[in-house]
Amino acid sequence: MLHFNKYSVIILSGKDSYLIRSEVWKSVNIFVCDQIPLEPFYQRLSEEKNFKICHFVREKRSWGDNTSAGVYIIHEKSLNHEYLGLLEIFFVSAESRPVIIIGDNIAQDYIESLFENRAFLHFTTPVDVNKLIEAIDELTKNAADFGRKRVEKELSKAQKQIEDLYQIGIALSSEKDHNRLLELILSKSREIAGADAGSLYLVESENNLRFKLSQNSSLDWQVNENLLIPINEKSIAGQAAQSGEPINLLDAYFIPPSFSFTFNRTYDEKTGYRTKSMLAVPMKNQVGEITGVIQLINKRKDFETHRRGEPLREENIIPFNRKDLDLLSSLTSQASIALENSRLYQDIKNLFEGFVKASVVAIESRDPTTFGHSERVALLTVAFAEKIDRISDGPFASVNFEKNDLVQIRYASLLHDFGKVGVREEILVKARKLFPLELEQLKSRFKYIRKSIEADHYHHCLDCALKDGVEKFRLIQPILDLRYSEKQSELDEILQFLIRSNEPTVLEEGNFNRLLDIAKMKYSDFDGQTTDYLTERETHVLSIRKGSLSEAERIEIESHVTHTFNFLTKIPWTKNLGRIPEIAYAHHEKLNGRGYPNHLENLSIPIESKLMTICDIFDALTAQDRPYKKALPLEKALDIMYTEVNHGLLSKELLDIFVTNRLYRVIEGKTFKP
Ligand SMILES: [Fe+2]
Ligand SMILES: [Fe+2]
Repeated sequence: MLHFNKYSVIILSGKDSYLIRSEVWKSVNIFVCDQIPLEPFYQRLSEEKNFKICHFVREKRSWGDNTSAGVYIIHEKSLNHEYLGLLEIFFVSAESRPVIIIGDNIAQDYIESLFENRAFLHFTTPVDVNKLIEAIDELTKNAADFGRKRVEKELSKAQKQIEDLYQIGIALSSEKDHNRLLELILSKSREIAGADAGSLYLVESENNLRFKLSQNSSLDWQVNENLLIPINEKSIAGQAAQSGEPINLLDAYFIPPSFSFTFNRTYDEKTGYRTKSMLAVPMKNQVGEITGVIQLINKRKDFETHRRGEPLREENIIPFNRKDLDLLSSLTSQASIALENSRLYQDIKNLFEGFVKASVVAIESRDPTTFGHSERVALLTVAFAEKIDRISDGPFASVNFEKNDLVQIRYASLLHDFGKVGVREEILVKARKLFPLELEQLKSRFKYIRKSIEADHYHHCLDCALKDGVEKFRLIQPILDLRYSEKQSELDEILQFLIRSNEPTVLEEGNFNRLLDIAKMKYSDFDGQTTDYLTERETHVLSIRKGSLSEAERIEIESHVTHTFNFLTKIPWTKNLGRIPEIAYAHHEKLNGRGYPNHLENLSIPIESKLMTICDIFDALTAQDRPYKKALPLEKALDIMYTEVNHGLLSKELLDIFVTNRLYRVIEGKTFKP
């Protein structure tokens, strides 16, 4: 066993100790770093013992020769300064080359974990040169065996890490929500490197990083940040983003003054947290562009066993090692791709959202009086579905709507009337039975008939005067005038009746017969042809018993549902949204099979469509005045809807839920007034 004086401490990595004897002194190279030549023992080491000294070449960040046997003697200042580069060297150099760290500030406990797989000694100063030489002697003997004991352990560890990375890759690629993905990336990064805390930054522009998120396990918080950090050499994350190189700090409180960045301790001072080891890794996409930075803080010895919120003791903090860097680099490149995918996914969603909104504008510009209808039906139906999802008893207890289902319902509702673009505009906006131009033609014809009655009257007067003389004519003139004026009044009354019949109110039976009588009345046209007062179409249209649409026009309006379906089925929906055409297609179906276009019955109508139908009718009844109908007050609208329930058209259970939960309030103030 080795014995050391009070100034020196020896730590053998792991729990193994061993006895070694020097046989090959002469072949030992001593790889020393910058600070060692300043130490008093250096001269004796090089001159008296005649070791071959290899100097660290700062520009190359190496000792040049990496193949020969020997011992690294490194001063802690250099370790601090060249940490990342030294880890690189240790990583590629043979495990048989031991490390001796000289220094007083970094505790041997703290860095021990870095040298698990090679012989490692730690000396405080002043170094007793005899002890140092004795240690070198021992270390160089059989050091090659040292690492082998751990090969198996390392292998199984590596296998687990590969498995972890694989699992993380799957988790990252399946998370589409951008914010949750950021949380996942940071928590998995912390997990894989065993870090107590961490922060995530995304490149926002050429010059700035956006500080997005912080997590801290021992303080048990996660905070969404929203700060802009310049991409420059002044901050750790900024420097990592600017250079594209990772930064690994042994201790954030002892950053060498030659480094361009500093660490701001304000937060630590406020919370009592001690930030010590730190690893900042830039995230790069497939083409090598920097997309962000992950900054991990305080690797924990006890990461696997610690509980969230349990304070972190300094002795449990260890430095990040080379493997952490490798794992994190691999994870960040996966994360970068996942983020890119999530951005593309979001772009596609936005694109589609924009397309749907544009479609809604297209529908509503055909009939401006229905402005806002699609959006309101979507708001109502989604609120309705959310309510149904929360119900835990009764007939709808088993009906559940996931987030995706709600998106599907929303799109189906927004687009339910899209097929109206395939219906002639004059029919869509038709307020009365006759089209405005037809009414004008009718009125003009009646003006002509009026003039023709007038002309007939004066012709008749003239005929009488010429035939019987003026004196006799004067006697009968009042009778002729009276008859004429009666005819005019009758004609005026007929026109008024026709104008009244043109309104989309319910036509009474007597009026229907009168209409047929009028239709048979005749007048002489310009050519002297005897012509009916009303055309066949006018008689047909004015005889509509209810509303403003003829049967053919009603069928054309109803065809909007089929147009909607045909349009929606052309869209290559994703699996989650695949039922949109089906849901929208059934929005005019009724429980008793009297709906259209497929006369589906209760059990065949999708529940989503049933919800939409109620919302569609509610909005149509309560929306602001349209040319062909007045907006109804809430009570009246609900009365009409319950009448439809009584006729077997709508579901009573669903309407009850709609009404008792006052779901209509989601559009209150938009158009409908309570
Ligand atoms: Fe519709
Ligand atoms: Fe509608």
